[in-house]
Amino acid sequence: MASTAELEQLREEAAAALAGVADAHALEAWRVRYLGMKGAVRAALGRIKSLPPEQRREYGRLANEIKRGLTAAYEKRKAELGAGTTRRVAPVDMTLPGEPLRLGHRHIITQTIEEIVDIFARMGFTVAYGPEVEDERHNFEALNIPEAHPARDPLDNFFITPSVMLRSQTSTVQIRVMESQPPPVRVVSPGRVYRPDTVDATHSFMFHQLEGLYVDEGVSMADLKSDIDQFCKVYFGPEVRTRFRPSFFPFTEPSAEVDMLFHYEDGSSAWIELGGCGMVDPNVLDAVGYDSERYTGWAFGLGIERMVMRKYNIPDIRLLFENDVRFLRQF
Ligand code: DAH
Repeated sequence: MASTAELEQLREEAAAALAGVADAHALEAWRVRYLGMKGAVRAALGRIKSLPPEQRREYGRLANEIKRGLTAAYEKRKAELGAGTTRRVAPVDMTLPGEPLRLGHRHIITQTIEEIVDIFARMGFTVAYGPEVEDERHNFEALNIPEAHPARDPLDNFFITPSVMLRSQTSTVQIRVMESQPPPVRVVSPGRVYRPDTVDATHSFMFHQLEGLYVDEGVSMADLKSDIDQFCKVYFGPEVRTRFRPSFFPFTEPSAEVDMLFHYEDGSSAWIELGGCGMVDPNVLDAVGYDSERYTGWAFGLGIERMVMRKYNIPDIRLLFENDVRFLRQF
């Protein structure tokens, strides 16, 4: 039968045991024994139920008082021992070499973008950025891509609403830049673009492009060819050659695809497609309110992954986006 006398005995026993506790280990054992989930104090409190109703009040009051008292004594002892332990730990040897910190670095795509932007900066180009969530005007309409054009197929784009989408090309920034300033314009714009392509070694639903735009009086296709050729020679090496194949893009006329003759280390070489380019279509200049009688311009859009993969001999585009540091650390 539970009684207040038993409680008093518990209090004395616990207090005596606590007085004998000499280190944190023993203190924890004491805590488990008396104040733990299965400890003596909790057990004593649990016995209230078995008492006749008239004894419960007195017993409960005393049991709770003991619990509070022992808890306070425990905290006090813990603080005393805690203050003591720091004095007992082994002294730190300040002469030992520290753990080396592994510094991270920028992703190879980011490094490449900075390098490319820097090359164009030396050729007189500034850099502009545009939003990745775009409207149809900037992704299509102002770029002379009509409603019925296959590039606007909902299955070939990530639409968010019927008129808002993830941009499928950085050509959007041509429009944004021209809307925000009068000519002349000489700008490059790197950034992410999105297309629902099936992912494989050469395709990703997200990749990076570099857009270029040069609009002024008297800009010609010769400027386009020499500027791209210059860039390729600085970025890939002076032995690189470029060629332009006739092509079609709605926002340029004439349009071309630009290839680069890349020399492999084993002595072989191959033409690599870099992207599209051409003379800005007068409709595009008209769409942003530029005088298309007075101004001409060139534009290009190059695939950044393609350049990185060629330059560093990376066989699979997925390696760039899997974020495996063992791979990324190499660059
Ligand atoms: N935006 C085109 C694409 O994603 C690439 C391109 C072609 C950009 C010709 C241009 C250009 O600026 O003149 O396929």
